[in-house]
Amino acid sequence: MSPAARARTDRSEVTMSQRSRSAEESRLLETAARRLPGGVLGSARFPDDLAFIVKRGQGSKLYDVSGREYIDYLLGSGPLILGHSHPAVVAAVREQLANGTTYYLVNEPIVALADELCRAVPCAEQVRFTSTGTEATFFALRAARAFRKRDKVMKFEGGYHGSHDYALMSSSPRSPKAFPAATGDSAGIPHAIEGEVLIAPFNDLATVEALLALHADALAAVVVEPFQRLIAPEPGFLPGLRALTRRYEIPLIFDEVVTGFRFAWGGAQEYYGVVPDLAAYGKIIGGGFPLAAVCGRQEIMRAFDPRLDGTPEFVAQIGTLNGNPIAAVAGLATLAELRKPGAYARLHHLGRTLRDGLAELVRKSGLPAQVIGETTVFDIVFTDAPIVDYRSMLTADGAALKAFNAECLTRGVVKGREKLYVSLAHGGDDVARTLEVFAGALAALGRSRRA
Ligand SMILES: Cc1ncc(COP(=O)(O)O)c(C=O)c1O
Repeated sequence: MSPAARARTDRSEVTMSQRSRSAEESRLLETAARRLPGGVLGSARFPDDLAFIVKRGQGSKLYDVSGREYIDYLLGSGPLILGHSHPAVVAAVREQLANGTTYYLVNEPIVALADELCRAVPCAEQVRFTSTGTEATFFALRAARAFRKRDKVMKFEGGYHGSHDYALMSSSPRSPKAFPAATGDSAGIPHAIEGEVLIAPFNDLATVEALLALHADALAAVVVEPFQRLIAPEPGFLPGLRALTRRYEIPLIFDEVVTGFRFAWGGAQEYYGVVPDLAAYGKIIGGGFPLAAVCGRQEIMRAFDPRLDGTPEFVAQIGTLNGNPIAAVAGLATLAELRKPGAYARLHHLGRTLRDGLAELVRKSGLPAQVIGETTVFDIVFTDAPIVDYRSMLTADGAALKAFNAECLTRGVVKGREKLYVSLAHGGDDVARTLEVFAGALAALGRSRRA
């Protein structure tokens, strides 16, 4: 038995429900393993001995088929800023269900959501809805290409913009190449795409400037996660990027799929005070249903207007579920809660308590680790090195993070592989309990290191 596994079985530490996996859950896990590649839906995968099948979610909690309870910091990978099954979202969806589930036509809730987005998001004058964040970044790039009449795009090493071919250029390269050469992160992507994407280092304005000086004329867009995964922009980086892209007249695209309505009502644009030309939104705006959007300046967005069909300006984007009314009402209900006075103050306070509490525990543990990120999205990284970009992130000990995640899960806390999201559903008791779990997980890691 590995030291980590031994520590996990230390029952005195493990205070989550002691109920073991039921026969029904074992059967479902076996079926999932047979019917789903890897037994999973995407990247979220737990160690076999800790894997579970979700039965339901309520507020800040997840419950598995065996009846075990978990405090949830995965939150559907970010959309559930109000937690699971918030009553306002459930009521809005119930009401809409009786009036139709999809129309393929402009409908009342989607117009209201488009209007709300344009009022909230600094760069947004018009909106085109899609179903996923992947589509939103893909079509933002297409719109920028049409506008700039160029093909190539610049993205940042380690930046994730979904799983389309352009987005998966150097989003997590195992052997990064010299800038600006791109490397595809998936089998099945045509090698030709590597020639269409220039890669730059996040938080390194001098290199970006040098690359733009050489390649600006070939570029249609610069796309960036304003908060790249867990890495905050250094002061001056985003304003500098804005100034450079403006100087070269290259549309700047913010991928706000994570940060939109999470960092602030106006997203990262408001939080960091920099306004791009286009933005991709997703997650929160669909309230837990499939909905995402490209939004931005009308001058660029107008290319989606079907009245331009047949002209060289027209940008084709069609989706069966574009503007889905169920997702729209769920999104509107979510935004209505977020607009209430004090909502963001509460969210940031809660996140700060948890993030700073974890940081303090890490300091006390003496482990070579640190906590990085903003108050509403953060995580532990197992390295002492300052984290400013993807390459510094590679200094982190991935096996230690895996072990930490497993220790948390054993104790009833679910988090993403490399991220914790907080929600308004988490209360003081959740935070206190989670800090206990973190302390137990770090102690177990310390023990296994000494063993
Ligand atoms: C920053 C960012 N952009 C785009 C996406 C893709 O969104 P989706 O998973 O809805 O396709 C994600 C997904 O996590 C993301 O984190």
